[in-house]
Amino acid sequence: MAKPICELNWEAYQTLSFQEKMVYLMQSGGTPYHTLFAQQFNRDLLGQLATLANEIRFIAKSRKGTEFLKTVVSHKRAMLYFSQPSSRTFLSFLSACQILGLQTGEVRDTATSSEFKGESREDAVRTFSSYFDLIIMRTPEKGLAERMAWLLSNSERPIPIINAGSGQDQHPTQALLDIYTLLRSFEKTGGLQEKTVLFCGDLLRGRTVRSLSQLLVNYPKIRQVFVAPPQLQVGEDVQNFLTDRQANFELTDDFQSAIPEADAVYMTRIQDEWDQSKGESAKIDTSRFRFGKTELDLLKSTAIVMHPLPRREEISTEVDGDPRAMYWRQMRNGMWIRAALIAMTFGCEQTIHAYFKASGTEIV
Ligand code: CP
Repeated sequence: MAKPICELNWEAYQTLSFQEKMVYLMQSGGTPYHTLFAQQFNRDLLGQLATLANEIRFIAKSRKGTEFLKTVVSHKRAMLYFSQPSSRTFLSFLSACQILGLQTGEVRDTATSSEFKGESREDAVRTFSSYFDLIIMRTPEKGLAERMAWLLSNSERPIPIINAGSGQDQHPTQALLDIYTLLRSFEKTGGLQEKTVLFCGDLLRGRTVRSLSQLLVNYPKIRQVFVAPPQLQVGEDVQNFLTDRQANFELTDDFQSAIPEADAVYMTRIQDEWDQSKGESAKIDTSRFRFGKTELDLLKSTAIVMHPLPRREEISTEVDGDPRAMYWRQMRNGMWIRAALIAMTFGCEQTIHAYFKASGTEIV
């Protein structure tokens, strides 16, 4: 695995354009070293990841295949550093590591680490890098994963960082599993092109929406419709990004009218943990931004309903049994795509491709 070294100090690094930063984020073969931003992935790379995830998924169906997969990265260890609550991202990364044979360590509460004694984040992360070969980190602090990646790239033991959610800004691996879910769901209906993806809910503070929206521009003729109350409508940064990329997008608060045109409805919960003042979100009327039986009746028969989860009341449980409800499968897809990302980070794609080919397994 190539180790991009960043010789710039933090102030100079921050002035780089995204394209200039890519030199430090990607390996020489074009695969990710650090995974910090959704925009690191183009259509070709997303396709490679989806293929690898499919192969891992099918190899894992047999005991023999499971035993093989456990040898793929068994010489590496991963640190799961989650200083913000998580169920799916934590467990799917843990499962992905187990599938590939990585041993893991974890800190899920900084009250149990030496950060409680005043150790800086920088020193905590350098400590992890002494014992582990990969850090998977979730943090409430915007930009922290990037700063830690820069720090490690300048250390004597650089190791990759995967951003498992950073503040309100990015959740790149959620976007990867969302794309994988869309690709799988539209396999028989023309693929991920010329589709309308409708985002609904708290689009201002939902980092999954920002990351997925940025990845969707890689696919041809995708229309993105953002449905939210005005106070929670998608931010200017996303709108500017989409405008710069000449993407087809629109903003509305009329959910019922938008549903019949959607190929995928991506629901999100109100992210009130980011409220500036207590109870601020509760004052917003979100009753028109929920998906239940009435909305299901408006949806195309070929469309799907997604949600990064956890949910509250924005999707009624009566939707759960409908074949178009994709959020449970979407959650499991996270395990496969994260296993693929870890395998790719450690340069093990060819080992998996070769086993898959030799086993004569078919993806059906
Ligand atoms: N989708 C997601 O990030 O879920 P968790 O917060 O449970 O990890």
